Amino acid sequence: MDEKSLKENLAVIRQALSRAHRVVALTGAGISAESGVPTFRGAEGLWRHYRATDLATPEAFARDPRLVWEFYNWRRDLLAPLRPNAAHLALVELEGRVPEFLLITQNIDGLHRAAGSRQVLELHGNIWQVRCTGCGRITEDRTLLPELPACGACGGLLRPHVVWFGESLDPMVLNRAFKAVESCQALLIIGTSGNVQPAASMGLHARRHGAFVAEINLEATPATGAYDVTLLGKAGELLPRVVR
Ligand code: OAD
Repeated sequence: MDEKSLKENLAVIRQALSRAHRVVALTGAGISAESGVPTFRGAEGLWRHYRATDLATPEAFARDPRLVWEFYNWRRDLLAPLRPNAAHLALVELEGRVPEFLLITQNIDGLHRAAGSRQVLELHGNIWQVRCTGCGRITEDRTLLPELPACGACGGLLRPHVVWFGESLDPMVLNRAFKAVESCQALLIIGTSGNVQPAASMGLHARRHGAFVAEINLEATPATGAYDVTLLGKAGELLPRVVR
C-alpha cells in the first residue's frame, strides 16, 4: 500500500473511532510478535519438533503431563523478559480516549495488562495462571514451576489456565465478548490470522450489527475484503499511527 492510500485509510479509521461511543479491539499473536513472542502459524511457531497444536490439548496432558508442562515452562521462560510493544501501548492510549472500550484478546501472554490495558477479556486464558485439576482453584503464579506442579490447597495436579484445542471457552467470557462486538460502533482486529473460532467470526458479526471494522495484519486473512479497511503491515508501526 503506497503512503498516499495508507494516509487515506488511516484517516478513515481515525474518523470512525472519533465517532464511536463504544470501541472494541480484538487481538491475536501478531500484536505480540514485535515483543518477541512467536506466533502460532509462523515458521517460528515450533518447540523442538512439536507444534503448539500437538501439546496444547487435554489428551496430550493426560498422556504426558510432564512433557506438556515442559512446553509451558519453556513458553513462560521465553515470555518472562518480554515487554509490551508500541502496538500494545497504542491500545492503552485508545482505551483512555474513547467513552467505552473493551479489548478482547486471543493471546495468553499477559502483555496487554502489562502495558496498562484495563478492560481486557482473555478468550484463551492466561499462561501466568494455573488451575488445579482437583479442586479447580485458579491462581496466578509467575515462579519457575516444577515439572509436575501441585495445588497448594489440595495437592492436585495443576495445569495452565489456558484454553486447549478441543476445549470450549468460558461461556461467561464468550457471552461478554459477543455482546460487546454486537453493540460497538467500531471494531479493530489486530494481528490474527482468523483461523480459530469463535474469534474469527467476530469481525463479520460486528459488521452485521452495523459496526465499522478495520483489520491491521502483516498479511491478508480469509476475511480481508469483507471489512471496511485492511491495513497490511506491522501492528507496532501502524497502530500508533491510527491512534495518534
Ligand atoms: P496466528 O499465528 O494464527 O496469526 C498471527 C497473525 O499475525 C498472522 O496472520 C500474521 O501474519 C500476523 N502478524 C505477524 N506479525 C505481525 C506484526 N508484527 N504485526 C501485525 N500482524 C502480524 O495467531 P492467532 O491468529 O492469534 O489458540 O491464533 C489464534 C489462536 O490459534 C491462538 O490464540 C491459539 C492458536 O491455536 C489457542 O491457543 C486456543
